[in-house]
Amino acid sequence: MEENRIKDKIYSLLTNDESVDIKLQAVCNFLKDEFTHFDWVGFYFKNGDLNELKLSQFAGKPTEHTIIPFGKGICGQVAISHKNFVVQDVTEQDNYISCGIDVKSEIVVPIFQNNKNVGQIDIDSHQKAPFTSQDEALLEYVCKEVAKLDLPLN
Ligand code: SME
Repeated sequence: MEENRIKDKIYSLLTNDESVDIKLQAVCNFLKDEFTHFDWVGFYFKNGDLNELKLSQFAGKPTEHTIIPFGKGICGQVAISHKNFVVQDVTEQDNYISCGIDVKSEIVVPIFQNNKNVGQIDIDSHQKAPFTSQDEALLEYVCKEVAKLDLPLN
């Protein structure tokens, strides 16, 4: 699908009359289906007042990493750096939490509400170095639209 149509689709999935849960699940499903190099797509949000992330909606294989302390793994690092983290080869990262040997790369983009880092979208890929700057820009768009929802969920 062409880039603008993808954005339109995401916008429509996030602005319909469904609940926040259903919207986020629909975005996970759509992104995973649309991009062959997106093998797992999920949202983590800050878990209340705790310095940890809690898994929310996702598409792909269930993971045991439903809670991730700030600072741990790629996700936990983004919770404190407030910056996108593109890992084209997970074997090069020491501070990495593996969700399976088939995962070769990962991208995490933070979600900001009122300048606060409230969560993130996390994508795992079974391919090495698949992520483009276009992917990153699209995920920033997703996060910007998700930030307009009634978050955080936890
Ligand atoms: N690999 C992540 C953990 C979450 S899973 O990818 C679903 C990390 O290092 O934070």
